[in-house]
Amino acid sequence: MIKKDDLELKMKQFDLAMSPPDTEPERQYFYMAKAKKTVSELTKKLGRKPTFCVVTFGCQMNARDSEKLAGILEEIGYIDNGEDENSDFVIFNTCTVRDNANQRVYGRLGVLKNYKKKNPDMRIGICGCMMQEQSVIEKMKKSYRFVDLIFGTHNIFKFAELVANMLESDDMLIDIWKDTDQIVEDLPIVRKYPFKSGINIMFGCNNFCSYCIVPYVRGRERSRNPEDIIREIEMLVADGVIEIMLLGQNVNSYGKNLDEPISFAQLLQRIEQIEGLERIRFMTSHPKDLSDELIAVMRDSKKICRHLHLPLQSGSTRILEQMNRRYTKEQYIDLALKIRREIPDISLTTDIIVGFPGETDADVDDTIDVIKKVGYDNAFTFIYSKRTGTPAAAMENQVPEDVVKRNFNRVLETVQQTSKNRTVSFLNQDVTVLIEDMNDQDDTLVTGRMSNNTIVHLKGDCSMIGTLQKVHLDECHGFYYIGHVID
Ligand code: 5AD
Ligand code: SF4
Repeated sequence: MIKKDDLELKMKQFDLAMSPPDTEPERQYFYMAKAKKTVSELTKKLGRKPTFCVVTFGCQMNARDSEKLAGILEEIGYIDNGEDENSDFVIFNTCTVRDNANQRVYGRLGVLKNYKKKNPDMRIGICGCMMQEQSVIEKMKKSYRFVDLIFGTHNIFKFAELVANMLESDDMLIDIWKDTDQIVEDLPIVRKYPFKSGINIMFGCNNFCSYCIVPYVRGRERSRNPEDIIREIEMLVADGVIEIMLLGQNVNSYGKNLDEPISFAQLLQRIEQIEGLERIRFMTSHPKDLSDELIAVMRDSKKICRHLHLPLQSGSTRILEQMNRRYTKEQYIDLALKIRREIPDISLTTDIIVGFPGETDADVDDTIDVIKKVGYDNAFTFIYSKRTGTPAAAMENQVPEDVVKRNFNRVLETVQQTSKNRTVSFLNQDVTVLIEDMNDQDDTLVTGRMSNNTIVHLKGDCSMIGTLQKVHLDECHGFYYIGHVID
């Protein structure tokens, strides 16, 4: 992240007739200056500033990447209008973790094609995990010729350069990298919320769970330097942020491969010292790497939120082995119960996959058993999706759809029951809530989150957004509360 004033100063120093610098991020500053010039000519032609819209699919990593794209577009002179239909530049930031994510992208691209017919000057960019798949690129080249710019996850830092080149060309520009270990700091970012922000602490994943495409599309694990992370958080706090979410596919292995190794728990302790920062969240944890050191740091922290997302995936040791998860049912339960013992008010949430190849009813019984023993506060349940190129895709015994559906419903019912039991346990307590938004349906209400991530609706107005409030929880409605402010 870089401050706007500092960036603009740097951009002014370039002679755009010269060739661009080779080093990053200076090279991108050069291209930002170049694109800014082209966009200002476009502004004159249109008689208004051109608009953009970034549409994000998938996880919080993608949401953060979209903020980086928006940061660059705003810097070069586009304005965000939040809707794809009337934008001059639309970007889809895609996800490919399950096939339905891909199908959604193709569906929306079809709609976009019609918008572009109405507005032939519209530019369309597409990036993210889906673009790291060769078969998708082939399909884009063949059936989606109206797309102007295609790039992947490894070269997103080059976005300014890609846009500058796209604006000077009428051809489809495709730039996909297979992998990189490069991390480029100090690029501009805009935030969706002024008071909270995600922060990448690491990129990629080395775990190769047998069903998962992420290691293939996001590449090998690489951690940012703790100094860069701390500096970014300090800048965010100075800019009004009070809650941060540290992002990584497997935050528990943060820092292991740095020149000066540091554990995730140690990083958290350093972040805790940042004055003005009120809340720290992180995601995602892999159970196999979750240390006692981390549990102790969470327990003793005043800022780390009482929430841990601990993906189970399956409760059957046999399936876990096939999934290459590297823990057993018993190890997982022991870990979860240890966490509950040490931090009793913690909320535990999870991801579960139903229908992994070879999964039997008895395996699903094991999953249900874990759900009951751990008593999740919430769980995301997914139907297994076959991802080409992963080991699981080649496994025999793909489970018939009707069996998957039946088991999916069994799991879902159990999850709903445990989460209801857990949520109700906070009723009538006084808690701290960060107010995040006006309520969607009722403009006399605001909506916020407790430390444990549960949603609370309460009477209030927009002046409360971004503040921490002491709230009494009056009513429990399954996964959310109705409360009122106390002082
Ligand atoms: N099918 C279904 N769910 C998957 N996930 C990852 N890969 C797949 C797949 N092939 C789920 C896992 C992971 C979450 C982000 O997505 O549960 O934790
Ligand atoms: Fe995928 Fe497993 Fe890595 Fe998570 S830990 S991103 S499920 S390979």
